[in-house]
Amino acid sequence: MCGIVGVINGSKVVDDLMGGLELLEYRGYDSAGLAIVKDKHVYARKTEGALANLKKELAINPIEGRVGIAHTRWATHGEPTVVNAHPHSSQKVTVVHNGIIENYEMLREDLEYEGYEFVSDTDSEVVPHLISLFMDSGALSPEAAAMSAVKMLDGAYALGILFEGEEEFFCAARKGSPLAIGYGDEAMYVASDAMALAPMTDRVSYLADGDFAVLSQGNVEIYDVDEHLVQREVRKSSIKANAADKGHYAHFMLKEIHEQPDILLDIVETNLGAQKIAKEKTVDFAEISSLRIIACGTSFYAGHVAKYWFERYANLNVEIDIASEFRYRNAPLPENGAALFISQSGETADTFAALEYAKSKGQKILSLVNVPESTIARASDYVVLTEAGSEIGVASTKAFTAQLAALAMLVIEAGKARGVLSAADERELTGALKLMPAKAQEILKQTDVYQDIAQSLKETHSALFIGRGASYPLALEGALKLKEISYIHAEGIGAGELKHGPIALIDKDTPVIAVAPPGELAEKTLSNIKEVQARGGPIILISDAKTIAKADFETLASVEVPECHDFIAPFLYVLPLQLLSYYAALARDCNIDKPRNLAKSVTVE
Ligand code: AGP
Repeated sequence: MCGIVGVINGSKVVDDLMGGLELLEYRGYDSAGLAIVKDKHVYARKTEGALANLKKELAINPIEGRVGIAHTRWATHGEPTVVNAHPHSSQKVTVVHNGIIENYEMLREDLEYEGYEFVSDTDSEVVPHLISLFMDSGALSPEAAAMSAVKMLDGAYALGILFEGEEEFFCAARKGSPLAIGYGDEAMYVASDAMALAPMTDRVSYLADGDFAVLSQGNVEIYDVDEHLVQREVRKSSIKANAADKGHYAHFMLKEIHEQPDILLDIVETNLGAQKIAKEKTVDFAEISSLRIIACGTSFYAGHVAKYWFERYANLNVEIDIASEFRYRNAPLPENGAALFISQSGETADTFAALEYAKSKGQKILSLVNVPESTIARASDYVVLTEAGSEIGVASTKAFTAQLAALAMLVIEAGKARGVLSAADERELTGALKLMPAKAQEILKQTDVYQDIAQSLKETHSALFIGRGASYPLALEGALKLKEISYIHAEGIGAGELKHGPIALIDKDTPVIAVAPPGELAEKTLSNIKEVQARGGPIILISDAKTIAKADFETLASVEVPECHDFIAPFLYVLPLQLLSYYAALARDCNIDKPRNLAKSVTVE
């Protein structure tokens, strides 16, 4: 949920620290800070709010040094104030932390009893004082004291650690929260993910849980949880430094929406026939009796769409679960069952914990992630990559449709393996997938209609999204998009469910966005729409030209989607929902790429 960076380059570290923070700001932006060591003394600067405020502070009160750590925060314990901003210090130690220290209250009580004084409300502040306690025993070097101290921490941490009087090294430690090591020519780096390291280096390795690292100029010593010196594989990161560049778009979200046709074309053309997916090893779909799909947020909705596909085209029973519910439910799981975990970041704590539970129950673990080096990928038996490129906007768009593309090909693989899809069926589905990117491009060309609709939504307090079949998870996704970036309350509802209560919400101020692709369910959705219209609810109809033309009810607006095969409707019908939420947020002058209270990767419970 937060982002941390550490640099030692023997000369000036502040630019690299700030560059890293800029690429991590999507993980949280409630406050930011950094600390450097100069002439053996630690100096820190911290500010509330976005990184720009720290930049301003450094312009007024500059600091510079040979080694440093930095942090951008998504508040978990303690309000987003300067006092609670990282770094946190004792007299001898300064720390930046991503994660949650679950036993911090007990530790704080003991440390205060020992005379250590606290100034913040955070869990993180126990770390510098605890390390100091071990140093004050006098028997341990700073790095040995830190290595011992972190073993007393319960919960999750990724740490950067500086020591008063030391400018030849800094330390880092990881348990449960991601931390990458970057290898420069002379410099050494740590960061919460490889993207933050991209401008400095593409040679990265990942600390394992329990690892502790001592980084000096051009060298790193990594100790495992048993304090044995170990090597962690150094890989070439696939993340490009220019990933964090909006180009001519006003926001990353808009850029990522418009990248979708090219990305989907690339995925479909390079992977079609599922050969590549099969080669990347997946579960043997002929062998499993059911599949459990587990994820959070938008990734969960992608899995929900895939449930309809697996059941219809592969005759495979699919259970779907929100990770934060599944991880605590002790769900009974079938012998040699399989579980698929979907995560754009590959770092979502709830999804990772659910994966660990399923693994402990002997399930085959398949993951679908957008970051190959991520924690979830590295914990899986089989990994399928969404290959959407780095997604910076907090609201997930291109990752969602890339997830659908990978899932669609897994479904075809499963349908063939289970003898459900004939060669003709396979040709029909793969043919539809091939046509999908061009149709997506057609939709993205006409954005004026969304800007007009957005104006009519601008003062709305609440909106409903309805759909049936695979359009039901799209309704849920459309509601999530609208609420998370425009702050308009929204609810996704199965169209057939309206009459079982939610229809009480219908009035002239509550627009209903109906996701209604043609096909067997369209007629039923249209009759639900009429129920809404009969009660004065304004309708925004998303459908094909024929359905729109024959609609015998008034609409606030209609959005036309090109004719398409049922199988690819979810790819196309989500695009108007993404654009609608984007322009509504624009009309309401919201912070589209960094919505309030959110972070891109929720790496804490
Ligand atoms: C999507 O727009 C949201 N930002 C959020 O729901 C996100 O999908 C969820 O947190 C899961 O993230 P993940 O895919 O990285 O696991």
